[in-house]
Amino acid sequence: MPRDEITRFDPRLTIEESIKPPHTWYTSERFLEQEKFEVFEKEWLAVGRVDQVTQTGNYFTGEVLGNPYVVVKDENGLQGFHNVCRHNAAQVALECGTCSKFACPYHGWEYDLQGNLIKAPHLGKSKVFSKSQAGMKPISVDTWGPFCLVDLDGPFGGNANPRNIRGDFNPIWEPLCDLGLMNMKFKERHVCEMNCNWKVFVDNSLDGGYHVAYAHEGLAAGLEFDGYETHVYENCSIQMCETNNSDERVGSKVAYAWMFPNFFINIYGHTMDTNFVIPLGVDKCLVIFDFYFDYEDFNDWKTQNIIKKNIASSHVVQLEDVRVCESTQRGMNSMSYESGFYSSKLEQSVHHFHKLLWGRLLNRGIA
Ligand code: FES
Ligand SMILES: [Fe+2]
Repeated sequence: MPRDEITRFDPRLTIEESIKPPHTWYTSERFLEQEKFEVFEKEWLAVGRVDQVTQTGNYFTGEVLGNPYVVVKDENGLQGFHNVCRHNAAQVALECGTCSKFACPYHGWEYDLQGNLIKAPHLGKSKVFSKSQAGMKPISVDTWGPFCLVDLDGPFGGNANPRNIRGDFNPIWEPLCDLGLMNMKFKERHVCEMNCNWKVFVDNSLDGGYHVAYAHEGLAAGLEFDGYETHVYENCSIQMCETNNSDERVGSKVAYAWMFPNFFINIYGHTMDTNFVIPLGVDKCLVIFDFYFDYEDFNDWKTQNIIKKNIASSHVVQLEDVRVCESTQRGMNSMSYESGFYSSKLEQSVHHFHKLLWGRLLNRGIA
């Protein structure tokens, strides 16, 4: 990626002076490659939920840009590993579940929950192999509220990691707790593949409600845009909006919080949904939507009905977002499009995101 492509966006300019990053940020393979090395392999990523790993042996797996990982609970807490067998690179743990050890399905190598190799059948004599050096490679794991985060290049777990989750994300902790973050219980997961660059989805969600009136007519009817607030912090931001109380689903206030680079926490009424955005290619991403609710009893018939209706309405909003995001990606590829313009009134969070990304890509030394 030529440095010029990055520096065509100048973060020293104010939002009024600035144009949006060039289309290549959204279409170039080399740009995505840099994002992989400088962002996705180095930042804390909110890959899962604490409720997935509450008992010893509970684990879940996932993959971000070619890096399969596994998070597991052992007697002492959470552990994370690159989910790559040291014998021949196959994935050792599959999907999610509970186990007392990991057994690679390819040639039967086994690892304990701390990642130590405990069995390597039929290995024979080797002058280069050492059992103690052949454990699954560790990654950092930590939690923040109900979320479980990993840092793929962090060699040490939890507090030993130099990057400070609490420092990074604390500004949004209180407003989210005020809206019931810690009372929310997970209900179900929806996964959606979108034909757009991961940043198209992020930009869309950070645009200060700009698109809501036009792309989400139904949702817009319930919001009071006059009081729309956007608060931008070093590595996160939060957008908040009062409602006119006409839609029970969204309650009296909505909050859309974002944690750099790719995680959203949206709270409205009795509902919380989180969006974890994983790039799959320059023009493809996967969005994992986790739905939570703060109802006491999910099995109550009336509650079940409300939840079903809420998820269905959120799905409509999601589809509207898919439509505008995929349309944007097509435009990014057009020979006519160089770069766009910011609304200085509404798109402060988008501008902030672009500045953060610029900093990560350049400060870590793009040549
Ligand atoms: S790749 Fe895991 S045992 Fe061979
Ligand atoms: Fe939207």
